[in-house]
Amino acid sequence: MINRKGIILAGGLGTRMYPLNITTSKQLLPVYNKPMIYYPMTLLINSGIKDICIISSIEYINLYKKLFAKGQELGVKVRYLIQKKPKGIAESLIIAKNFIKTSPICLVLGDNLIFGNNKEIERKLVEANKNEKATIFVSKVKNPNQYGVIKKYNNSKSLVVEKPKKFISNKAVIGIYFYPNKAISFARKLKPSKRNELEITDLNNIFLKLGEMNIKLFSKQVFWYDAGTHINYFQVSKKIYDYEINKGFKVGNVHMAALKKGLISKKKFNYLASKYNKSSYFS
Ligand code: TTP
Repeated sequence: MINRKGIILAGGLGTRMYPLNITTSKQLLPVYNKPMIYYPMTLLINSGIKDICIISSIEYINLYKKLFAKGQELGVKVRYLIQKKPKGIAESLIIAKNFIKTSPICLVLGDNLIFGNNKEIERKLVEANKNEKATIFVSKVKNPNQYGVIKKYNNSKSLVVEKPKKFISNKAVIGIYFYPNKAISFARKLKPSKRNELEITDLNNIFLKLGEMNIKLFSKQVFWYDAGTHINYFQVSKKIYDYEINKGFKVGNVHMAALKKGLISKKKFNYLASKYNKSSYFS
């Protein structure tokens, strides 16, 4: 059985969300009827990951502890670590090295929401979890100049190019990354970029150059939003509202995901559902 460790990165400056996040962490802001971080937590649970670490700033880490405690409500283990300063997404692997130990890793960004065709999402996540190689996911976007996008070269090889000014491709790398354990030592060797961050794109390019990275495309039935700007935040909230109200699907319901995965009993779920039966989250 694979004992992959999950990391949710929920720190950062979040300057694009000002002033919504003056008094709280961006990844705790509500997206329709639940905190933003419920969505990436659901992805980890759906991938089959049960040992999870949340990384945030010293200012906000206690709020996450209040939300998930030790994970008992979801039948998973949740721990907490602090990132002193936002020194880059790849730094999370170094921060979490004692938590990861010798396991493979799944890193997910706390403001990345992926939903839609649940069967496709779960199948692809479970496949990535079982695979020994690294896996990144891409999604076709209209504005590739704002993301890390896939560039093909030498016919079969690929690299990620960060925010290309000229069009290269419309396949953007999205914020869920599966790595073998050696990603920690690769992250340690990274040099800070011009913006003084350990860049996740540099780490991904090491795996791509070695030919040890799968690139998986999500279809049009899977939606991906980086909820870190006002417009995206508003649009994703509306899309999830539409999904839940008009299509009747629950999105980002961590308790339901835990129930489906057999991590919590029907009795435990029903107890919570009856306690909060006035909330649209359960009903
Ligand atoms: P970014 O979008 O790179 O950064 P941000 O959201 O903090 O910033 P801004 O609005 O100022 O551009 O981060 C992606 C996700 O990763 C987001 O959830 C924050 C998190 N993050 C950290 O936790 N630590 C870090 O050092 C960085 C760079 C990001």
